[in-house]
Formats: sequence, structure tokens, C-alpha cells
Amino acid sequence: MAQPQRLVVLISGRGSNMEALLQAAQRRRWAARWGAQVVAVLSNRPQAQGLQVAAQHGVATEVVDHQAYPSREAFDAALAQAIDAHQPTLVLLAGFMRVLGAGFVARYQGRLLNIHPSLLPAFAGLNTHARALQAGCEVAGATVHWVDEGLDSGAIVAQAVVPVLPADTPETLGQRVLAAEHRLYPRAVERLLAAGL
Ligand code: GRF
Repeated sequence: MAQPQRLVVLISGRGSNMEALLQAAQRRRWAARWGAQVVAVLSNRPQAQGLQVAAQHGVATEVVDHQAYPSREAFDAALAQAIDAHQPTLVLLAGFMRVLGAGFVARYQGRLLNIHPSLLPAFAGLNTHARALQAGCEVAGATVHWVDEGLDSGAIVAQAVVPVLPADTPETLGQRVLAAEHRLYPRAVERLLAAGL
């Protein structure tokens, strides 16, 4: 078998995408097929619900609280140290709500993925569902992309499309997109694993 693939997931909150990754890893036997394993879940928020979910799955968790650092550079350095301790081949942002500095992004170039709840390059940034409705979009969706130094601007790895329905609110559209995210992120990671990254 090729080199083991060590995956580190970064979260800030609920962690439902992280859970989808953990479930897919188990159900689709990532360890047996590609030696791939989620070795740690890191959060910048001590209260992130996803930390408990990860622990229930038996995955090591760690908090690097951004509020404990005087600058973004200091936080990025502490986060990088925590990540590097796990020697990851891939770092998966899953609802990680901090903008990362250029130095951090460069350090993990080609190893850092994100999931964003819109069809990029449309609607980078926040409030994607309200903005999609406002614009009159007939379809919405989610994007898995490599992270570069821009805002949600890196190369696209995979996308999922869902319909926008006439009665949609940002909440109902958001739920439909989130369900699509839960299928998309594991599928995108699996495709990279199968390709040898
Ligand atoms: C998801 O919609 C993700 O695309 C966005 O933040 C949300 C995180 O949800 N970046 P969860 O924490 O994975 O449940």
C-alpha cells in the first residue's frame, strides 16, 4: 500500500461536514483501501459542538482558541504547530470560520481543502443562501476547493448542484445545500485518495 494518508479536520461549530467525513471513512473503508484515517479534529472554538461528535467517534480533538492569541499571525503559528504534530497529508476545513493568513496557506499549499456553501465563483464569503435567493438563482449548491490566499477563490475540486424552489427561504435552501455538502465532501476526498492525492 502507498503512504498512509493522515487527514486532519478543522472546525469551528456544529461539525456536520466533519461527521459526514468520519462516517464515510468508516462506511467506505478508507483505512483498508487507502490507509486513510482522520487522525485529529481541531477547533478554534472551545465550545464547538463538533468536538464532542469527533470524540464519540474516537478521534483525537484539540482546541486552538483564536481568542488566546494577540494576532492572526500568532494564532496561525499555533494552529500550524498543532496541525503539524499530526503530520497530515490533507487538511480539511469543514465549517472553519477563521480567515487564514498567506503564510499559513502557503505552508499547506496543495494539502488544504475547504467546503463552501455556494457554486463558486458565485457567492464567495458569507450569507450565501440569502444572496442566491436575492439574485434569483434557479440552482444553488456547494463547492469543494483548494484553499489559496484569496477568499473562497482556490481551484475547484468538486461541486454539487441543488434546485432553488419557489418557496425557499435562506433556511430551507441552506438545509438542501447542507445535505448535498454531506455527500460532496466525502466524495471529493475519496476521489483524491483514489488518485493518490
Ligand atoms: C457549511 O455550510 C460549510 O459549507 C460552511 O459552514 C457550514 C459548516 O457546517 N463553510 P458544519 O459545521 O459542517 O455543520
